[in-house]
Amino acid sequence: CMSSNLVNEPIYSFTPGSKERNEVQEALKIVESKTEDVPIVIGGEELWTNDVHYQVSPYNHKQRIAKFSYASADMINNAIENSISVRAEWDSKPLADRAQILFKAADIFANEKRSEILATTMAGQAKNVVQAEIDAGPELIDFFRFNAQYALDLEHQQPLNPDPNIVNSVKYRGLEGFVAAISPFNFTAIGGNLAGTPALMGNVVLWKPSDTAMLASWLVYKVLRECGLPPGVIQFIPADGSTFGNTITSSEHLAGINFTGSVPTFTKLWQQVGANLTKYKTFPRLAGECGGKNFHFVHSSADVDSVVNGTIRSAFEFGGQKCSACSRAYIPKSLWGKVKQGLVEKHKEIKLGNPDDFSIFLSAVIDKPSYERNKTYLDHAKASSNIEVLAGGNCDDSVGYFVQPTIVECKDPKDKMMQEEIFGPVLSCYVYDDADYKEILKLINSTSSYGLTGSVFSKDESVIEEASSVLRNSAGNFYINDKSTGSVVGQQWFGGSRKSGTNDKPGSPHYVLKWVSPQAVKRSK
Ligand code: ALA
Repeated sequence: CMSSNLVNEPIYSFTPGSKERNEVQEALKIVESKTEDVPIVIGGEELWTNDVHYQVSPYNHKQRIAKFSYASADMINNAIENSISVRAEWDSKPLADRAQILFKAADIFANEKRSEILATTMAGQAKNVVQAEIDAGPELIDFFRFNAQYALDLEHQQPLNPDPNIVNSVKYRGLEGFVAAISPFNFTAIGGNLAGTPALMGNVVLWKPSDTAMLASWLVYKVLRECGLPPGVIQFIPADGSTFGNTITSSEHLAGINFTGSVPTFTKLWQQVGANLTKYKTFPRLAGECGGKNFHFVHSSADVDSVVNGTIRSAFEFGGQKCSACSRAYIPKSLWGKVKQGLVEKHKEIKLGNPDDFSIFLSAVIDKPSYERNKTYLDHAKASSNIEVLAGGNCDDSVGYFVQPTIVECKDPKDKMMQEEIFGPVLSCYVYDDADYKEILKLINSTSSYGLTGSVFSKDESVIEEASSVLRNSAGNFYINDKSTGSVVGQQWFGGSRKSGTNDKPGSPHYVLKWVSPQAVKRSK
């Protein structure tokens, strides 16, 4: 796919005194000072129920930034009906018209709404300004622009074998039914992509955003509507997860699920789809991105500074709440002294606080369940004789859900800290004998049910080759001498296999194909 005119949106740096910085500071004050009403939207109509909930700022759980209500099962069924009634018209619109909506939305987020979407992501998901920018700036903008362009390229470049007597073509139809988009809290951009891409490709979508990213999702939705997305094409459905899951999987019109979240939830949805399969008019497409237990493998030939810097950033940026975050590091004995010292020193420089302080490195974890889960692992680490806590280890939820960035050394490479996804600012290290590195590669491959991201740090080509081979299925995003996070749309297609998901690679030209049912048309001359 030749998309030569695609350029990634530049990242702003928010230096003190800059216009961008002042604008975000102002926007953040506004978001923090009010509780915005976020409705359910079905067929363009704004609705409420009595099942009221609030989105709070993770760093100050008394600060309510949004009020919303859960849609009932009846409402979700109405939304499905309404979507189906507008489906054919939407799907038959020229792709260029649908793409135009995403291009326009991208421009709005790149310009007039950039500070507002950043502020909303900072106040709602507790990202520092840089992390908010990476997500709700370039990633969101690029998802819209790149997917729209990928789709146009796909339509225009039809690599069909020619025959002088016939005219062949392919029509990229939306799926016949509706797509449910279920989005997570950790990236505002992911919500935009999960709902926006199927809509781009001619589908109607029921979007259930995460409760803890409600306000940012609402802003994305409003902008899409302002850019010309017709009522009913994307329905905005705050809802209880089970009610939503049960209702969509019971509908004969289910044509797809576009999911990012936990393994248990995706597994359950898949099972429900399986149990209802004979009901459906079509075989639903299931796309899921479900997490990881991402590794940094360090060889004795590695550059210590890049190991230390990369590991601190990958493990602790956004409190380790990226599915790509490094949470297990394997370090050779010969380097451990320097790496440990480097990690502990860098750890001391990490500033924890509220996003309105632009000098913080990280803030609170997303919510109470996340806080409790992190605490369980910290308690386990402190109580275990096989684990040494090298830095951090404490947490405090009196004002916000604060978990200290924590580094532990595990003596047992099969300890649960080395195998289970924690989804928090916790880094587990294992120190190995230099000569055993081949065994360690095998261990890394065999001690995780996930296969999302991973890094190898080495200056020795034969080690890089060996690691690439042994870890072939351990990471859908494999990094060499770089940290395991920070994939860029169009540059590093994102996603992993095993329990990390279906690996449909958002950020690539292939991803848009998941949301179409192509029709081959043959016409005699
Ligand atoms: N795509 C994000 C990253 O690579 C999750 O860090």
